[in-house]
Amino acid sequence: MTDPTRLDGKIAWITGSGRGMGRAHAELMAARGADIVVHDVLQEEAEATATAVRALGRRAIVFHDSVADPEAMRKLVAETRNKLGIIDILVNNAGIGQHLTTEEITPEMFQRMFDIHVKGSFFCAQAVVPGMVEQRSGRIINISSNWGMVAAPVCAHYCAAKAAVLGLSKAWAKEFAPYNILVNAICPGGVMTEMPIRVQGMEKIRAKEKLVPLGRWAAPEEISYAVAFLAAETGAFITGQSISPNGGETIVGF
Ligand SMILES: NC(=O)c1ccc[n+]([C@@H]2O[C@H](COP(=O)([O-])OP(=O)(O)OC[C@H]3O[C@@H](n4cnc5c(N)ncnc54)[C@H](O)[C@@H]3O)[C@@H](O)[C@H]2O)c1
Repeated sequence: MTDPTRLDGKIAWITGSGRGMGRAHAELMAARGADIVVHDVLQEEAEATATAVRALGRRAIVFHDSVADPEAMRKLVAETRNKLGIIDILVNNAGIGQHLTTEEITPEMFQRMFDIHVKGSFFCAQAVVPGMVEQRSGRIINISSNWGMVAAPVCAHYCAAKAAVLGLSKAWAKEFAPYNILVNAICPGGVMTEMPIRVQGMEKIRAKEKLVPLGRWAAPEEISYAVAFLAAETGAFITGQSISPNGGETIVGF
């Protein structure tokens, strides 16, 4: 029996894979056999991820345009097709975080939040789906958040954008099912990456960890296990779902 967790021969495009969870997804999927399209506006970080992927014996190509640029996303897919082949897996992971009250959120901040999370996920999927339709198979994994499902005390614009990502996931699961393109969302709880450390600070994070039944936030690779599960044969009958690796956080609320 072949190992259903393997991704040999697959090409995975992971947005925001220069650091944090995106890099962890890239490294795990490469370790399981996938070639990786590394994509991040942070150039040095993206190159470092590509180096790590190549050290695992897999191919990597690097792109730096914003996910919010639809024309650039179409070009990325075309160039990947020439260099590696048709993309099999898209992980819409790129994101930004902000902790602000509703009063503090400016129109520009609101726009940027939606440009990156919602429009970005939309444009990347729009660019990649024709190839998946052609080969009658594909996986799209949208990174939402537990804050797309439950209430947060701050950052209403982030919560709304992440909830919209769940809407995209469900709509696409239905729209693309006839082409064997499976679409799911991951809604992580707190994950120890640069984003929350910068936005919230370690003191707040340590206090929040006490509210998590498992007593801690996740390491990035603990979210990657769920992403890779959905990307591989292990996820072959799962579509339109959301999985929340959150240490039990949503059992107790905030
Ligand atoms: N860390 C958490 O606690 C947490 C919890 C739930 C969900 N998330 C989500 O997980 C995803 C990854 O977050 P992370 O914690 O690894 O953060 P991170 O800041 O470490 O990584 C996000 C990456 O996305 C890149 N990026 C941002 N805007 C981009 C754009 N326009 N185009 C291309 N790349 C862009 C950044 O440069 C960065 O490398 C995000 O969508 C985030 O909202 C994070």
